[in-house]
Amino acid sequence: MNQTINYIRTKTDLKPEIGIILGSGLGDFADTVEDAVRIPYGEIPGFNQSTVQGHSGELIFGIVKGKKIVAMKGRIHFYEGFDIKEVVFPVKVLCDLGIDKLIVTNAAGGVNKSFNPGELMFISDHINFNGKNPLIGPNEDVGDRFPDMSYAYDPALLEEVQKIAERLDIAHRTGVYMYMTGPSYETPAEIRMAGILGADAVGMSTVPEVIVANHRHVKVVGISCITNMAAGILDQPLEHEEVLTISQKVSEDFKKLVASIIEEI
Ligand code: HPA
Repeated sequence: MNQTINYIRTKTDLKPEIGIILGSGLGDFADTVEDAVRIPYGEIPGFNQSTVQGHSGELIFGIVKGKKIVAMKGRIHFYEGFDIKEVVFPVKVLCDLGIDKLIVTNAAGGVNKSFNPGELMFISDHINFNGKNPLIGPNEDVGDRFPDMSYAYDPALLEEVQKIAERLDIAHRTGVYMYMTGPSYETPAEIRMAGILGADAVGMSTVPEVIVANHRHVKVVGISCITNMAAGILDQPLEHEEVLTISQKVSEDFKKLVASIIEEI
């Protein structure tokens, strides 16, 4: 960890207040960062590079709406074969660089039948259906052995973000995100189960990072881009292309929203 932070410090001395993880197809936001210092993951000790299309990996430091931020353009996933500890290493680095808020974004399949592809869902809570918890192992002394997850997605920030979306007239929902390992999409039966268990959307990321942020007392805002209705909700197959196309379609709204969130939280 020290080696990683020291390396980053040779590139920039910016002390970010807010971190943002840009999910599938949502990386364009990185182009709006001013005075950007871009560090490819491949150069950073301890970082791994994603193997997935739409997830090019760069850490970007700079200014958005006057605030100092660090953005992760792309992330690695458990389904790529990485250990859960490797998956959360970058978010630990963000937290240890001193952020006190983390905006975590992803592409997700809609389970709630009232949702539509192209809508944004603010995450109010999650279900870790992967079961793997990134805090398993000796406790790091940055946080409690048994961290509270009652407010994993900070309720006050959630309310602020909902108000911002309303003001900007951006279609939004709020709901529960269920984390599945992937990489195969879920079956229709699994999606029926997800709905019965209380999920509004499903995806293959985010939850490990949010657990680590909570452990390190960093407040979290979660945003899912509903890129498709989950398996079996509509009588049609799912394709990764569709996920990327829809997330790029909402990219303008997403960029506007995230910039305002950064400005106001
Ligand atoms: N399931 C899981 N992950 C996803 C989906 C989905 O339907 N869409 C985008 N990411």
